[in-house]
Amino acid sequence: MKQELQKILEQAKKDLKKVKTLDELKDLDVKYLGRKGLLTEKLRSIKDLPNEEKKDAGQLLNQTKKSLEHDLEARAKSLEKSVLEAQLSKEFFDTTLPGETKKIGHIHVLAQIQEEVEKIFGQMGYAVMDGPEIDSEYYNFEGINIPADHPARDMQDTFFIKDKHDPDHQRLVLRTHTSPVQARTIEKYGAPLRIISPGRVFRNEALDASHEHTFHQTEGMLIDKNISLGHLKGTMIEFLSRLFNKDVEVRFRPGYFPFVEPGLELDFSCLLCQGKGCRVCKHTGWVEFMGAGMTHPNVLEAGGIDSTEYTGWAFGFGMERLAMMRYGITDIRLFNSGDLRFIRQF
Ligand code: DAH
Repeated sequence: MKQELQKILEQAKKDLKKVKTLDELKDLDVKYLGRKGLLTEKLRSIKDLPNEEKKDAGQLLNQTKKSLEHDLEARAKSLEKSVLEAQLSKEFFDTTLPGETKKIGHIHVLAQIQEEVEKIFGQMGYAVMDGPEIDSEYYNFEGINIPADHPARDMQDTFFIKDKHDPDHQRLVLRTHTSPVQARTIEKYGAPLRIISPGRVFRNEALDASHEHTFHQTEGMLIDKNISLGHLKGTMIEFLSRLFNKDVEVRFRPGYFPFVEPGLELDFSCLLCQGKGCRVCKHTGWVEFMGAGMTHPNVLEAGGIDSTEYTGWAFGFGMERLAMMRYGITDIRLFNSGDLRFIRQF
């Protein structure tokens, strides 16, 4: 018995040396210590021994078993360690390598320009107002002197929101311009006022390189005592010169907008040809920029301002136009296209 056990133990040690994986180790465990394992069978055979031999044989067997178990366990530990090491070396992370930066995008060119516009007017003492993109028919039209039956409604084709009304039972529209903010601000704050309001506007347009259904405007309004168009001219020269970082000239042409009287259009001197005439300014030396005028008394009175005491002016310009002029962009549809090749340029 003793010799047999010795043999088994030696064989086991030899086997153990050859083991390279945890799976092989498991097989070895089964071979010796499993239910039908070599040692287990020996243990079972004790009962057939003469009584006087049973005790010694039992002790010996138990010792052998323990020593084998111990060896197996030690081997298991060292195998586990080397597996872990192999894994670690595979997953080794060099902390000195430059990091992979996450692409988090950047501010859209229109938002960039909007920030600049807000900054310049902010420095001139203008507050920035916000207004809803879905507004009531009242603020978009009546409140700024465009009654329902007025032909001026045809100037801006609108998207109405079906079957939805504001609390005063007015139909809701996607605002066609930022001018409704004029009425809202006058109503809320009264005179004097000095505000701009940039934002998104919508029109039911036939789309082409210069017409989009969704675009952006900035509204401006100044109301105080003794205000004239001279103030508007000075303000716009200052604003445009700062925005473009060069001396810009402006000129007025007569124009019609229901919420101003007199109404006018403002052009600025073409930046590309310095007024000499080129394709961008259609060889006139001037670029059409915005609508403006002296705020109509009806607009002031509708919001509760005494038009005999206060006067003011307002203007509205397109943000896309500004960006197109500055960067030489030739198609307005690019702004909303989501085309990263376009967006990443700015
Ligand atoms: N709301 C006008 C438009 O979208 C632009 C405009 C013209 C705004 C004259 C004004 C203004 O404030 O006085 O065409």
